[in-house]
Amino acid sequence: MSLSSSSSSVEKDKKYFFHPFTALKAHESDGGKIIVEGKGSTLTDSQGNKILDGMAGLWCVNLGYGNTELAGAIDAQVKKLSYYHSFSGMGTDLAGQLSEQIINMCPVPMSKVFFGNSGSDANDTNVKIVWFYNNAIGRPNKKKIISRTRGYHGVTIMSAGLTGLKNLHDGFDLPLSTVRHVRPPHRLWEKAPGATDAQFAQTLADELETLILAEGPDTVAAFIAEPIQAAGGVIVPPNEYFPAITKVLKKYDILLIADEVVTGFGRLGQMFGTETFAMQPDIITIAKGLTSAYIPLSGSVVSEKIWSVLRDGSVQYGAFGHGYTYSAHPVAAACALKNLEIIKRDKLTETTTKQGKLLHELLQNYFANHPLVGEIRGQGLIGAIELVANKETPKPFDPALKVAPQMARRSMELGVLTRALPASDTLSFSPPFIVTDSELEVIVKTVHQAVNEIGKELGLYS
Ligand SMILES: Cc1ncc(COP(=O)(O)O)c(C=O)c1O
Repeated sequence: MSLSSSSSSVEKDKKYFFHPFTALKAHESDGGKIIVEGKGSTLTDSQGNKILDGMAGLWCVNLGYGNTELAGAIDAQVKKLSYYHSFSGMGTDLAGQLSEQIINMCPVPMSKVFFGNSGSDANDTNVKIVWFYNNAIGRPNKKKIISRTRGYHGVTIMSAGLTGLKNLHDGFDLPLSTVRHVRPPHRLWEKAPGATDAQFAQTLADELETLILAEGPDTVAAFIAEPIQAAGGVIVPPNEYFPAITKVLKKYDILLIADEVVTGFGRLGQMFGTETFAMQPDIITIAKGLTSAYIPLSGSVVSEKIWSVLRDGSVQYGAFGHGYTYSAHPVAAACALKNLEIIKRDKLTETTTKQGKLLHELLQNYFANHPLVGEIRGQGLIGAIELVANKETPKPFDPALKVAPQMARRSMELGVLTRALPASDTLSFSPPFIVTDSELEVIVKTVHQAVNEIGKELGLYS
C-alpha cells in the first residue's frame, strides 16, 4: 500500500468509522492503527510495518492468519451454497454435521447446539434459554443470573450486565435488574493473606451461598463463569474453586453456564476449560476458536436436561421464538468444520501444551524478579503479567497513570501486540496456536523491553 493510500485510510477511519471499545474523542483527533495483511502470527500495518500478534487478534485467531485450508473451505462453500436459513425446520447439510462434531468434542454429555454470530449473542441466548426453561417447568420467579466481577461475557443488553466490568455498565443503564455479581478467584487482589487455595475457594463458595440465600434460592436461575477469566485479567482459579462452587449450585438447583468463548477448542492445552477445571456445565458458550475467527460463528451447547424441557415447552409456548438470520450460516459452518478437523488432525492441544510451557518459562525468566510485576499467571497458551505499585504488599497503580496501556502501546511501536486488560494493570499473551518458539521469545522479550522503558519513563523504578 502506498503512503498516500495509507494516510487516506487513516483519515477515512477517523472520519467515518465508529470504533468499538475506543476513546471516541481521542480517536477522532489521533487516529489508530490500520492492519492490512496477516500471515501466520505476523500482521502488516498500512505503513508496511510488521507486527507480531501476541494476542491472536482478540484471543481468537487460533490457527493464525492466512490459513489456506480454511480459505479453501470457505471459498468452496460460498460457491456451492452461500446461504440458507435455519428457521421453521429448514437448514443446510452442514448445521447437523457441525453440531454432531461439537457434541462429540464436548467434555461433558451435551445434547444440542444453537448457533449465533458472537459470544455476546450466544450468552444472551443462554439467558433466554434459562428463562424459558424455568417458565416451562413452572418456576417463573427463578430468573436471576449470578456472574463474577471481572467476568467478560459480551456487550449485548444482557451479556454486558453479566460482564463484571464497570465501563460496560456506566452510561448504558446496565446491568439489568436480574443480574448479580460475586468476587472472582483472583489470588492477588481477593485472597486473604496466608489463606490456602482451598480456603480461598471455600470462602468464595460461601459468599456465593450467602448471596443466593439473601436473594432467595427460588429467584436464582444460573451462574455464569469462564473457566479462566480472560479479559478480566487472565485469572486462573484454584483447582478447588469450581468443585466448591458446583456444590452450592447443585444444593439450590442453579444451572451452570460455562463461557468457553476464549478457552474452547484447545487454548488451555485441553479441548475445553471445563475439563481443566472440573466444571459441570448445563450450557456451554462457544465462539472465537470455533472458526479461528475467519468467519463469525458462536454457539450455545445445551444438555439433555435443558433440551428436553425446551422441546416439551415448545408444545406449550409454540415454536421456539428465538433465532438469527445467520444462525448456522453454511459458510461459517464449513469454516468451523475445517477448523475443528485441523485442530484434531494436527493434535493442536499438544501444541498449545508445549508452546504454553515455553510461554510460561519465558514469562518466568523475564518477569519473575521484575520490580513492577506482582504476579505471573496463565495456563496453556494464555498468560499475563500484572504490574503493581508495591510488590511486597500488593498495591495497584493509580488507574489514571495508565501504566499497562502505555506499555502495550510501546510494545506495539516495538513490533509486538500485547493487550492491556481493562481492570488493573495487566498485560496479556494469547498468541496463535501456530506461534513458533522464536516468535514466542520475541513476543515476551519485546514486552519486557516495553515494560522497562515505560517503567523508567514514568519513574516507577530506577
Ligand atoms: C469469555 C467471553 N465471552 C463472551 C465474549 C463476547 O464475544 P463477542 O465479542 O464475540 O461478542 C468474549 C469476548 O471477548 C469473551 O472473552
